[in-house]
Amino acid sequence: MADGWVGERFEVTVGPVAHGGHCVARHEGRVVFVRHALPGERVVVVVTEDRHPGYCRADAVEVLDPSPDRVERPCPYSGPGKCGGCDWQHVAPEAQRRLKGDVVTEQFARLAGMDVSLDVEELPGGPLRWRSRARFAVDRSGRPGLRPHRSRDVVVLDDCPITVQPAVDAVLGRTWDGAGAVDVAVDSVGGVTTTRLDRRGHAQSTRVVRPDAGAGRDDQRAERRAWHRDWQVEGTGFWQVHPAAADALVGAVAGFAAVSAGERVLDLYAGAGLFGGSLAPGVGPEGQVVCVEYDAGACAAAADNLSDLPQAEVWQGAVDAEGLGELLAELPGAPDVVVLDPPRAGAGREVSAVLADSGARAVVYVACDPASLARDVAVFADAGWTVAGLRAFDAFPMTAHVECVALLVPAAR
Ligand SMILES: C[S@@+](CC[C@H](N)C(=O)[O-])C[C@H]1O[C@@H](n2cnc3c(N)ncnc32)[C@H](O)[C@@H]1O
Repeated sequence: MADGWVGERFEVTVGPVAHGGHCVARHEGRVVFVRHALPGERVVVVVTEDRHPGYCRADAVEVLDPSPDRVERPCPYSGPGKCGGCDWQHVAPEAQRRLKGDVVTEQFARLAGMDVSLDVEELPGGPLRWRSRARFAVDRSGRPGLRPHRSRDVVVLDDCPITVQPAVDAVLGRTWDGAGAVDVAVDSVGGVTTTRLDRRGHAQSTRVVRPDAGAGRDDQRAERRAWHRDWQVEGTGFWQVHPAAADALVGAVAGFAAVSAGERVLDLYAGAGLFGGSLAPGVGPEGQVVCVEYDAGACAAAADNLSDLPQAEVWQGAVDAEGLGELLAELPGAPDVVVLDPPRAGAGREVSAVLADSGARAVVYVACDPASLARDVAVFADAGWTVAGLRAFDAFPMTAHVECVALLVPAAR
């Protein structure tokens, strides 16, 4: 079967959207995952990958019967065989949000056996020039760009219309001889950090250019503003990518957590302390907030960010079943609320099981992958918890990614 249908060209009617930026079609009894198409369209596809007996992958290269949701791609680099950075450039923004909502619904049904429906919420700023933090690949000639879908090649770019202009200006349209990739981040005051990486992904050097001199600050840090506070972040280290995402997510988390004075909150996978620091005023000086993060630079930034909040502390360590068990045992009492914002892979079944048994009155789960979220929610559901709230945000327009915030509560005890 290896490479069996690769290069074959045939017509299909496109079915529903699936997780990963494609839609499902069928041909001669096999599933075909079709990119660059929309549900209901009649398209001609060319098979791009065929490595699995059950399905193959294809690009729609000709649209015979277009969906009313189809639009001209704003990005000239996007399309079949071109840059793989975006999935939905050919889709009207409101339809992108509908597709993302359908994916969340489908993942919860398939992986958690739950029926959820939701409207994916738009963030301010429009679908372009929102990406404030990015990694660009560099080809053997030192030219920067992005990779085609499921390829190690580099599509050389002079622009990336979803990326904020100062990041484009700092990285694209020039050469980075000897580099394997370049990370770039633009902070809330226009500071631009670029980190040059070697071919193995190791940082070689970092350059920070600030509009002001940044007096009194750690030179490698960027400045972000969210939830009425200023935050320091390691230059190209983790911060929500969309400039409006931090505020939107904190708003959702705070609404679901509804903390009150004296409560104990855990902020797991805390980064620079965004959620813990935002909830700390609500628990007051008699409460406790513990931010857990394994990256030393992020922990140092979090400690500085929370230095005016005596009820908040930072624990450097891995969130895993063992570490979490130790942390829970050391606390003076059970947490009231646990906020977690793990990377794409999610917290996993073991950590979820420990949290479901932690005694918390609520868990607020922030997730950039609805599949990981639904898988972990199933663990909570098995332990008797229910989904009491679910919101989703279009924090990555033009791509298939969506950010979800779920409120999980235990069965009445
Ligand atoms: C999606 S980011 C969230 C950061 C923060 N909540 C925010 O919104 O800015 C995930 C964070 O988890 C950290 N991380 C990933 N795996 C971890 C683990 N197993 N234990 C502790 N921290 C982890 C990463 O370093 C990163 O800072």
